[in-house]
Amino acid sequence: MVFVNFDLAASVEQFHATYQKPFEANMALNGFDDDKLVWVRDLKFHYDCNWKVLQDNNIDGGYHIPYVHKTLASNIQLDTYETEFTEDYCMQTAKGKGSDARVGSAILYTAVYPATNINCYGPFVELNLIYPKTAKTCEIIFEYYLRKDFVDGKTKEEVDKYIQESLDSSYSVQEEDLNICNAVQTGLQSSGYVAGRYSPKIEASNYAFHSKLAKQYLEYTNGQI
Ligand SMILES: [Fe+2]
Repeated sequence: MVFVNFDLAASVEQFHATYQKPFEANMALNGFDDDKLVWVRDLKFHYDCNWKVLQDNNIDGGYHIPYVHKTLASNIQLDTYETEFTEDYCMQTAKGKGSDARVGSAILYTAVYPATNINCYGPFVELNLIYPKTAKTCEIIFEYYLRKDFVDGKTKEEVDKYIQESLDSSYSVQEEDLNICNAVQTGLQSSGYVAGRYSPKIEASNYAFHSKLAKQYLEYTNGQI
């Protein structure tokens, strides 16, 4: 995986410290020190929600998992769920129960500000890119990869079976996220919606994301929003 810095004003050292170093450290912690990956498939999903609703869902510190992803929740040790974040990234990890081949020994979700996510399930690596389409719609591109050392030594039938079962599980999680995000968008548009205060315990990573976004919007519009 290659990180490219398009901000000519930023130093390489700063970029490395901000994005790459914590991600690589966490990848190694979860057994992804082998950077050889095999491309599996690309998929696109359409969401009827603003892109920030989807990213809010992705970085909520696992809050929605027990309620929205019951099957996934049953395969991870929720009491090991940890969230580390700055305004530039949010990393979430949890140990697997060993009951699901896709989850494996651990999951790792890394959200890089503003809309790039790298998720690891067992030997699977999923790159998610969120694209805003309109104020109320967005698309997410999934790129699926498998660790090469997982594929090596297995027959094509064994690998194909594992991929299909994993993708079926991924589709289910996508469907669950899609339903909750679209419902949140409906709620945001309702006349009964009132923006409340953030919960420090649950929404700290969301607050960091929103704060950086608001700061950039204000800079871009010279404070005219
Ligand atoms: Fe989710």
